Amino acid sequence: MTVPSIGHFILNNGLPIPKIGFGTYKTTSMADESIISAAIEQGYRLFDTASFYDNEPFIANAIRHSGLNREDFFLTSKVWKTQMGYENTLAALNESLEKLQTDYLDLYLIHWPRANLTDPWQTLMKETWQALELLYAENKVRAIGVSNFLQSHLEVLLTDARVRPAVNQIEFHPGYTQSETVAFCQKEGIQVEAWSPLGRASLLGNPILIEIAANYGKSVSQLCIRFALQQDVLPLPKSSHPDRMRQNLDGFDFSISEADMDRLLSMPRTGWSGEHPDAERVVF
Ligand SMILES: NC(=O)c1ccc[n+]([C@@H]2O[C@H](COP(=O)([O-])OP(=O)(O)OC[C@H]3O[C@@H](n4cnc5c(N)ncnc54)[C@H](OP(=O)(O)O)[C@@H]3O)[C@@H](O)[C@H]2O)c1
Repeated sequence: MTVPSIGHFILNNGLPIPKIGFGTYKTTSMADESIISAAIEQGYRLFDTASFYDNEPFIANAIRHSGLNREDFFLTSKVWKTQMGYENTLAALNESLEKLQTDYLDLYLIHWPRANLTDPWQTLMKETWQALELLYAENKVRAIGVSNFLQSHLEVLLTDARVRPAVNQIEFHPGYTQSETVAFCQKEGIQVEAWSPLGRASLLGNPILIEIAANYGKSVSQLCIRFALQQDVLPLPKSSHPDRMRQNLDGFDFSISEADMDRLLSMPRTGWSGEHPDAERVVF
């Protein structure tokens, strides 16, 4: 099977990262390994996981059985809220490396800026970042970054960070674009990654998106992926179906007009997960 040419963004430390990655949240069934194997076969090389997803061993097995080399892949994992703090983070990375059966990660992220909403978060977050800086200096991770950080969290981190974050992974899709955070990251040279780029499928029946996608002869998921790429945001779609995995890789052969981008950017809030780093999750 021929795999599509995906291309790379270049992170602020010079590391190339594939322009699309495969999301793995909630791939924790018996079929896990076969889903990852199918994604590899379709052409994905960037895999986004986290200790919290509890699926790192499945990814390791799929990579081992792929016949490809470790260097062919870009592996991201994340330190979870309960693992934050200097020593805990060092231990968490070792655990992730063991489960992923590798001796380095390509990218390691702080999953959320705050472990909880009651304790002062700044000190714990900074200690966690210092651990990531040590892991980076020891070449156990090739790049370090954050997830779900707003400008206010990044400003605290940047006050005494010795290594600047390479990535901020946030919820991003038409109807929830977090434009202030994206603009701040892009000004600071931090690559934005889009989690839930399809709004966890909730956007796929949206009439505005259906209409715009039809103008290009594309599916709504392809439109959402192109929408991210066209703003230099790296999408991380997840699917358990090989045909959809493949379809989601086809974001490179068309471009969305300025007028349609404006429509997409000005949509009212749609498809938001309800997650916010400074508030309890909103359940709809
Ligand atoms: N950092 C964070 O806090 C955070 C939070 C959430 C997610 N993430 C990351 O972001 C990744 C993606 O987000 P997500 O999994 O929440 O949602 P998503 O990728 O926006 O949407 C996934 C849903 O869309 C469906 N789908 C995918 N492609 C499709 C297509 N072409 N046609 C029709 N349906 C399609 C999937 O169904 P099928 O599987 O049935 O195809 C699944 O239900 C996660 O897996 C995870 O790696 C990170």
